[in-house]
Amino acid sequence: MSQTTKLLMPDTEGFEDAARTLHAGGLVAFPTETVYGLGGDARNDHAVARIFEAKGRPRFNPLIVHVPDVETAKTYVEWGDAADRLASAFWPGPLTLVLPLKSDAGLSPLVTADLPTVAIRVPAHAVGRALLNAFGGPVAAPSANPSGRISPSEAAHVVAGLSGRIEAILDGGACDVGVESTILGLSGAPTLLRPGGLPVEALEQALGAPLAHHGKGDPLTAPGQMTSHYAPDARVRLDVTAPKPGERLLGFGPVDCTLNLSRAGDLTEAAANLFHHLHALDAQGDGPIAVSPIPQTGLGLAINDRLKRAAAPRDA
Ligand code: TXA
Ligand code: MG
Repeated sequence: MSQTTKLLMPDTEGFEDAARTLHAGGLVAFPTETVYGLGGDARNDHAVARIFEAKGRPRFNPLIVHVPDVETAKTYVEWGDAADRLASAFWPGPLTLVLPLKSDAGLSPLVTADLPTVAIRVPAHAVGRALLNAFGGPVAAPSANPSGRISPSEAAHVVAGLSGRIEAILDGGACDVGVESTILGLSGAPTLLRPGGLPVEALEQALGAPLAHHGKGDPLTAPGQMTSHYAPDARVRLDVTAPKPGERLLGFGPVDCTLNLSRAGDLTEAAANLFHHLHALDAQGDGPIAVSPIPQTGLGLAINDRLKRAAAPRDA
């Protein structure tokens, strides 16, 4: 995929152009106080799938949803006392809260990797905030770097990494914080999920208690690693070109099937449809599901990763 990536200035015209691009399902890199984010409309499956594709991210890690203020955040998550205290102390700022997702939130399941929680934050950068206000919707954004590369702290880094793969880059100069936000889990006891731009001590002081830590390494890949999480009720058989009697085919490409991930064989479209179609097949009954072969390239890696989890033998 190669396209012209527009470099937008942080003025009225630039914000309007960026907001239009997001509404149309396009991707816009924008500054936050931590790092540049690669933004897409968090309600639009196709836009969110394209974020993974543009980054070359092999797994569907859940993404952080960016909103302009606390009131907007409350429309997507179940709010509570701890969230209230922390948000009034640190938002806007480099703190991400993981909270239970409201059932009517309307976010793409790709944003949350189909988890019952969502990571949400109100960034502090004036340019990022102006974009969120101009757009008026939730923006899903990982750091705006190709997967496995260093996070971008100025627009030129984004140009170097993602030019030709996204619609636009909103230039807001250098990021103050330069390291990603601190992530705090609040769906149970407050738990530090990722250390980041807001010091843990400040959080503990605001909460009046020490934080639980989620262990060493990169615990944040954990939600996506839970095999059972992706398992539908039905048994799942992969790489099927000839379904057996009674099997329902989840197709890819021009095949006869119950539901098709992408008749055109487009992996971005298939990624956008994946969780929706698995849910739909689950709701239709518990007859076995067969799945067409999916190429192991681009977003196909992430799709096959999730499908393998769905097909893995069950514990009980
Ligand atoms: O500063 C930042 O946080 C930047 C800017 C752009 O906001 N964003 C960022 O996003 O660092 P990303 O995608 O690189 O990191 C988000 C992390 C991932 O490790 C993901 O696993 C975790 O947040 N995460 C997202 N949703 C989660 C959830 N529901 N439960 C647990 N972890 C979650
Ligand atoms: Mg990152």
